[in-house]
Formats: sequence, structure tokens, C-alpha cells
Amino acid sequence: MKQSSKSTQPVVPALPSLPKPKYSQPIMLSLSLSLLTLAVTALAADPTPPKLTYLYSANLTFLAPITIGAVPSGSRNLLTISGGTVKGPKINGKVGSGVDWGLTDSKGVFSPDALYTLHTSDNATILVFEKGHAPNVQILFETASEKYAWLNSAVGYASGGPNDVGIGLDVWQIGA
Ligand SMILES: *[C@@H]1O[C@H](CO)[C@@H](O)[C@H](O)[C@H]1NC(C)=O
Ligand SMILES: *[C@@H]1O[C@H](CO)[C@@H](O)[C@H](O)[C@H]1NC(C)=O
Repeated sequence: MKQSSKSTQPVVPALPSLPKPKYSQPIMLSLSLSLLTLAVTALAADPTPPKLTYLYSANLTFLAPITIGAVPSGSRNLLTISGGTVKGPKINGKVGSGVDWGLTDSKGVFSPDALYTLHTSDNATILVFEKGHAPNVQILFETASEKYAWLNSAVGYASGGPNDVGIGLDVWQIGA
């Protein structure tokens, strides 16, 4: 095949024609009616707040920040997580290492965006994904440990901020 010259316009591929709707009218009508019923039920019922289960508290320690500076979306620093401690009813151990490349916006709100490891006293390694808008943080986990496999589907909420050792976080599981 020849290379197309620079002046050649790219060819827009033809879109396949959309399939015709499969539902006959009576089915469509009963579908919309049941959706309507669902919507009314959802509005009528007072939603139950999710349960919170306290998992642990952690202190994260940091190396000196690497300043990226003023970027289009705010002020960026690269914070290297160097260690720390984890204590609580569900997880105990140490913080390994990681990075937080959080952003401080024009109003001074810090939005953490971190990835780091926890090393439990019973030898499991847990990867922690942290994102939020200080002091509210959402936490997800990943681990190969069978004992802690429940963390793979857990959604965590943490509240935290600076303390005299670095950053302190209290972590709960939502809707356990
Ligand atoms: C975190 O540090 C604070 C302040 O030194 C301390 O009171 C707290 O017990 C520490 N928590 C953990 C989980 O190590
Ligand atoms: C964790 O690993 C250390 C070092 O390999 C070992 O001494 C210890 O017994 C292990 N603990 C558990 C609870 O498996």
C-alpha cells in the first residue's frame, strides 16, 4: 500500500446502521411502567445510610516534597511516602512506601492522589489507592492475601490531615 500524501483527507469509516428496536410496543409500555414504579418506590422510601466499620488508623511519614509548581490545574507536589504505622481492629502493621502526587487548587484545597503499601504484622502486603479532597478521602485496596481478600471489594472512607509525624488517617469501610 502507498503512503497517503499529506493533503489527503482522512477517510471517515462508515458507521454500521443502528439495529432496529427489538421490543414490541406492549413490552415497551410495561417496561416504562415498571421503571416508573421503581422510581416512585425509590423516592418514597427513606434510604438507609450505609454502615461504617472502623478498620484502622495510620500515620504516614514523608520525604522532603519535590515541588512541581504551578501547573494548569493548581499547585502540584510529589510527596514520597517513606513509612509509618498502622493500628486498629482490622489491620495492624507498617506503611511501606509510595507516592502522593496531590494537587492544591486555587482555593487552597488539597486533593490527595496517593498509592502506597501496607505491610501487616501477619505478613500480608496491601496496596492502597487514595483519592479525595482534604479532609475527605476515598480509599480502595488491592491484595493477594487470602486473609485480607475482603479488602479487594471494600470501599473505604478516611478522614485525616497533617499531625506531628506526617499525615494521620482514620479509615472506615463503607457499607460492609
Ligand atoms: C500517630 O501519631 C500520633 C501523634 O504522634 C499518635 O498519637 C498516634 O497514636 C499515632 N497513630 C498510629 C496509628 O501510629
Ligand atoms: C512473617 O514473616 C517473618 C519473616 O519471614 C516470620 O518470622 C514470621 O513468623 C511471619 N509471621 C507470620 C504471622 O506469618
